[in-house]
This record gives sequence, C-alpha cells and structure tokens, in this order.
Amino acid sequence: MRTGEPTATAALAWDGRRLRLLDQTLLPAEETWIALDDEADTAAAIARLAVRGAPNIGIAAAYGLAMAIERSPADEPLRAAADLLRGARPTAVNLAWAVDRVQAAALAAPLAQRAAVARAEAEAIHAGEDAASAAIALAGADLLAGARRILTHCNTGALACGGTGSALAVAVELAQRDAITVLACETRPLLQGARLTIWELRRAGIPHELLVDGAAAGLIRRGEVDAVIVGCDRVAANGDVANKVGTYAHALAARAAGIPFVVAGPTSTIDASIASGDEIAIEERGMDEVRHAGGALLTPADTPCRNPAFDVTPAQLVTALVTERGIAAPPTTESVTGLLSPAGSA
Ligand code: MRU
Repeated sequence: MRTGEPTATAALAWDGRRLRLLDQTLLPAEETWIALDDEADTAAAIARLAVRGAPNIGIAAAYGLAMAIERSPADEPLRAAADLLRGARPTAVNLAWAVDRVQAAALAAPLAQRAAVARAEAEAIHAGEDAASAAIALAGADLLAGARRILTHCNTGALACGGTGSALAVAVELAQRDAITVLACETRPLLQGARLTIWELRRAGIPHELLVDGAAAGLIRRGEVDAVIVGCDRVAANGDVANKVGTYAHALAARAAGIPFVVAGPTSTIDASIASGDEIAIEERGMDEVRHAGGALLTPADTPCRNPAFDVTPAQLVTALVTERGIAAPPTTESVTGLLSPAGSA
C-alpha cells in the first residue's frame, strides 16, 4: 500500500482508501491538495485538469474505480463507474488502459474480494508507472547525451506522471550529467509549460528559459536548440503520436533544422489497436480557454474559437520513441508493437 505524505513534487497520494491530488489548476500560485472520495469526484478532477498528464490520469482513474468498487462491487455499478471514468477525457489512452486493468481484475474476483483486488491493481499500476519514469529518464538521457539546449512542450514531469516524469524526467537526468538549459514552451491556452514545467524546473534547480509557443520554430531554425523532447498521450501502432497541441509544429521545425525530435512515454501510452494517428480522438475543449489569458478576456466574449487540446505528429517526423521497455528508433509498426511483446525491444 502507498501511504504517507505527498513528496515534494508528486501530484497524487493514495492512503489505501482515499486519493489526494495537488490541484494543478491552481499552480503555481497555490499549492492546494484536494481529497477525492469516489469515481464521480475523480472523473470531475480529470475533466477539469486538476489532475492531468497521460500517465497520471490513468493512475487517478485506477484509484477512482477502486474507490467505486469498495462501495459497490457488483457488476453493474462497477461497469457504470468504469464507463464514467473512461469518458472523462478522450485522447490519452492511459485512462482507458488503467480503467480496463482494474475492471478486468475486479470482475475476475469473487464479489467479497473485489475491493481488495481493485486496490491492489490500482497500486500496481501506480508502482509500474513510477518505475517506467525512472527507466525512461535513463534511456532518454543516454540517447540525448551531448545535447545542451533542450526544448520541451507542455508539462511532462512529476506532475504529469507517476515518478519523475517522461520527457521532463529525461531533461532532469541530463541536467545531473551535464550543464543544460531547458527551453520550455508556455503551451497556450492552459499554460502547462509556463505554470507547471517552470514550477518543476525551479524546484529542481535546472537552468531554463520560457518561450511563447510561436518562438520555438525560429529559435530552432537559428541553431539555438540541440534537441526537442516531448511526452505523448497516445501512440498509434505505426508510431504516430498524439500530444499537446503545438507539438506537431515543433516536430516540423526540428525536421527542417535536422535536429532530433524525441518522444518519451510509458508503454501504457501505446494503443496498438489503432493503425495510425488518424484514428485518435482529439479532445476539443471549451472556447473560453482560448478567449482568456491570465484570467483576462482577450477578445469579445462571443468570438468563435477552435480549441483542439492535442495534435498528431506523424511517425516520419519522430526520431525516437523512448519507453521503459526500450527505444523505437525510428518508430514503425514493427518497432512500436515490438515494445509491447513479452520480451520488449531495445
Ligand atoms: O492536457 P494535458 O495537460 O493533460 O496534456 C498533457 C500532455 O500533452 C503531455 O505532454 C502528455 O500527457 C504526456 S505527460 C507524460
């Protein structure tokens, strides 16, 4: 069982009965922990991005389902809770992956043991994602050895993942080996880069600079970036990658400049059931997120907006996909699905 106080940077803590989250909508101004008691609380927290980042929404949903099963272990309420949690956000496959795991484990158990089995499965998912972060950090840092100026997008650190993160964990590991600077894109409209990545980099004492998203391509072209590394929300079997909106533009700029564009994430982010990124459902969020910045209305309140929260980068633009089970370089159907085989691939 995971117990005790949250660590300095972990975004969620489970005491065996209840889930507590660092409310990421309030960072960096406020560090407020909220308690979740059931699947409805958990689904709502995921939908409003109080907990976010592909691996962490999977972990939170696993605990949310465990709390539901504790209360109502019968088949029908169990399936209803699982459906509610799966529907909280559409793009990151880690959410459905984690819910499916807890649901399958619980349904396979006798009614009286379902709560304990579900708790154990959620805890195993959490521990597995923690371990995945550590392995990704080491493998990614080996791959990017020598890169000094690392550009990243959104937030992929301990706030987004079990353990230390995915792409940002690679940067943290690189910073322990070498003098690097992280160039963090602000990540409009919800500013996960400006609010969350900078918060993490400051706490880790890693040199950094914040960019508006539109500055990245020009700096890459001028030779001011050695490598781009980002996380992922869903990787199709052919290696196409859905990640935070704006990622595709960084990949195009990296390719044009001839620098590596690396994607890091646990294998729970690979969706081998879809052949390509064209099949990935892209979350469209509310127009008010685009109309506002820093709490202020930027534009007439009825301005029509588009707000896709993610985009898809074709596998051809990805230099390498770094996972805890090895690196697919370049990502292809063979190399990506090979990561899921029992032996994995390196
Ligand atoms: O909408 P968010 O903040 O949940 O989006 C997060 C991202 O796009 C991350 O890059 C992704 O989840 C990878 S985190 C390891």
